[in-house]
Amino acid sequence: MPDLIYLDNAATAFPKPSSMIDSMAQFYREYGVNPGRSGYDLAVEAGLLIDRARRTLDTFFNNPAHDYNRLTFGNNASDALNLIIQGICRPGDHVVSTKLEHNSVLRPLYEMQERGVITHELVPFDTDGFVDPEQIARRIKDDTRLVVVNHGSNVLGTVQPIAEIGRICRERGVTFAVDVAQTAGVIPIDMAAMQIDVLAFTGHKSLMGPTGIGGLAVGPDVPIRSTRWGGTGVKSAVRTHLEEFPFRCEIGTANTIGIAGLQAGLEWITERGINRIREHEMELTRILTEGLQDIAGVTVYCAGWSDRHLPVVTCNVADMEAGETGMILDVEYDIATRTGLHCAPLAHVGIGTAPKGAVRFAIGPFNTEEHVRTAVEAMQEISVLRQPRSA
Ligand code: ALA
Repeated sequence: MPDLIYLDNAATAFPKPSSMIDSMAQFYREYGVNPGRSGYDLAVEAGLLIDRARRTLDTFFNNPAHDYNRLTFGNNASDALNLIIQGICRPGDHVVSTKLEHNSVLRPLYEMQERGVITHELVPFDTDGFVDPEQIARRIKDDTRLVVVNHGSNVLGTVQPIAEIGRICRERGVTFAVDVAQTAGVIPIDMAAMQIDVLAFTGHKSLMGPTGIGGLAVGPDVPIRSTRWGGTGVKSAVRTHLEEFPFRCEIGTANTIGIAGLQAGLEWITERGINRIREHEMELTRILTEGLQDIAGVTVYCAGWSDRHLPVVTCNVADMEAGETGMILDVEYDIATRTGLHCAPLAHVGIGTAPKGAVRFAIGPFNTEEHVRTAVEAMQEISVLRQPRSA
């Protein structure tokens, strides 16, 4: 695929750093055994790798608990958000969330409401794609247990005022959960300063790890319970799942090869510098956005390249269906984007692009200025297909 221009980095970052790929191969070549179950050298080494990754991520997110065992691993952000919502909410609880959420939050909320366990309310966003923290404050009631908010929209690229929402939740004594799937690795996340109680991350996007690894950072005093029960590798005679972290939020053999890759991805980000990566991506976002905005017939939604935006640009060409635009970009120009509703249907309802959705360009650290200029030229040519012909 030498000519492919990959602009689908919000779905997963690609390509990945070679050091990440090498670390995964090295794990299976040199010590690919089950961690935490035995005392022989290789098992200890595999366990140390997991401990190192917990510490790296715990520091990365600045969890005020200062207990790296509260950094727990699972499959991805959806898995972690299920655990947060089901593990924290009790029957009769009320949850406040937003219309920018991904299905990883919406579907657990819908399901638990249908089962009669909880009720929930979703706060709308404004025409620029931002949620007003005051709207969240107004919906918090005596029975509100949890506020869960998407840090950065995977559709609009808008970054929500997390610290302000965190302050409100702390004042009102409500647990504050944040979905950092799209922001971790792009925007510094400080659980202490932002008053985040618990966050859900995935490894394969801007953290530059592989797919299949994600997890939670659980702050102090978060009333989360196990929602699944099983093997922990220790205290096998105990009949109930272990309460202590990390076991409370983990079951079975860990995805150690995924953790090896994630650790290497984090090291790669740290070496490059998160600010340097972001500066590069946001400059390309500016070029792409301005280029698209100059094309007659192209609508760009909630655009921006400030510290309140991710390197994501979502648009449509006149009345052309997003799927068709994306197919032409792919087949004619070798440009990979994601079209449709992006698993966040209410975000599209809010900007008026449901049910067909929109075309999303998502920039990553390996993209170049040439990539985004080529994308603009392609969109210019595609838009001509939709211009009314003069007689
Ligand atoms: N949630 C991912 C996306 O936005 C997969 O594409």
